[in-house]
Amino acid sequence: MSRFLFPKWTNKIKNLLLPLVVGGAVYMVVLVWLGASPKTLVAGYSPVQPVPFSHAMHAGELGLDCRYCHTTVETAAYAAIPPTATCMNCHETGIKTTSPKLAKLREAFATEQPMRWEKIHDLPDYAYFNHASHVTRGVGCKSCHGRIDQMERVFQQEPLSMAWCLDCHRSPEKHLRPLDQITNMAWAPENQLELGLQLKNEYGIKTSTDCSTCHR
Ligand code: HEC
Ligand code: HEC
Ligand code: HEC
Ligand code: HEC
Ligand code: HEC
Repeated sequence: MSRFLFPKWTNKIKNLLLPLVVGGAVYMVVLVWLGASPKTLVAGYSPVQPVPFSHAMHAGELGLDCRYCHTTVETAAYAAIPPTATCMNCHETGIKTTSPKLAKLREAFATEQPMRWEKIHDLPDYAYFNHASHVTRGVGCKSCHGRIDQMERVFQQEPLSMAWCLDCHRSPEKHLRPLDQITNMAWAPENQLELGLQLKNEYGIKTSTDCSTCHR
């Protein structure tokens, strides 16, 4: 019985083997690198805005409440981005009225065109999210957006992945706070778990992990 011999053409495969192994290694590196870059991971995403609006200045130093500008956050799914008129309460007369940094804002106001702010947080359309359902139930802005009051330029702090949503829906007590502290960025409880469990009871919180809660 003769030994099985590979046909001659298979020698070509031997020559292909090295490029395949090297190519595979390069492919893996690129994949991991792309997977970890901010654009694909989204956490850390921070586009340049047409006007260099600083939350650190307005919400931090000046101490303006988030709801002064994001007026619908307690009543609607979306947390409205303020119209130019809100900015002009201060910047039309009085403060920095001729600043070149505000040129685009003045132009938008004069021509009655909306400012084109770059959107930062953006869930896919098939996932349903609602601000009012969270901020009226004891989940503060900071739990999901981080220390906005310290950001010169807003960046996305959290991944906003399904695993991230579910993590809190499984144990909301780790994040619940009194309703009058929702926009307080510096609020820190002595014992989060103890208070969280108490508030969960008091507010009757029943977070759901059913698919239909977020995919309707
Ligand atoms: C003076 C008005 C003003 C105040 C006060 C303010 N914001 Fe904003 N906010 C804006 C504007 C304008 C934008 C869009 C431009 C930008 O991203 O900087 C924005 C953007 C954001 C975004 C990103 C939106 C996106 O595209 O994903 C978040 C999150 C946010 N604000 C949270 C907060 C929180 C939390 C507070 C309170 C600590 C706050 N804001 C206070 C005006 C304001
Ligand atoms: C309650 C008043 C108030 C409101 C409302 C307000 N600002 Fe301001 N803004 C200020 C003050 C005060 C400063 C700091 C001025 C200084 O540095 O002397 C400032 C500074 C700025 C600067 C920096 C200007 C420079 O030349 O350094 C920008 C840009 C700016 N604001 C944009 C906005 C935008 C955009 C909005 C609306 C989303 C807005 N502001 C709403 C009070 C306000
Ligand atoms: C439970 C998490 C969570 C909390 C709490 C939360 N946000 Fe958000 N926020 C999000 C998510 C997720 C998005 C993106 C929504 C989308 O793309 O549909 C977002 C988007 C935004 C936007 C962009 C406009 C919009 O609605 O898409 C603003 C402004 C904002 N949030 C401000 C706030 C403020 C101010 C508070 C506190 C009063 C707050 N958020 C509390 C998760 C949260
Ligand atoms: C930090 C905690 C936390 C995070 C993060 C969080 N949630 Fe929630 N979610 C809650 C709490 C608390 C409630 C209120 C439950 C109740 O009313 O009993 C809630 C309620 C909801 C509801 C029910 C709203 C309704 O009107 O029926 C939806 C939908 C929802 N969350 C979607 C999301 C999505 C999507 C994400 C991720 C992008 C997310 N949540 C992230 C804590 C959180
Ligand atoms: C608390 C809210 C929430 C619940 C509950 C939830 N999802 Fe999701 N889901 C999301 C969000 C937000 C995304 C988008 C996240 C992203 O882009 O990474 C998502 C994405 C997905 C995707 C796309 C995944 C991908 O990698 O692109 C699938 C499939 C999915 N969900 C299935 C389910 C199923 C099945 C259930 C029930 C067992 C479920 N989800 C429950 C919030 C939720």
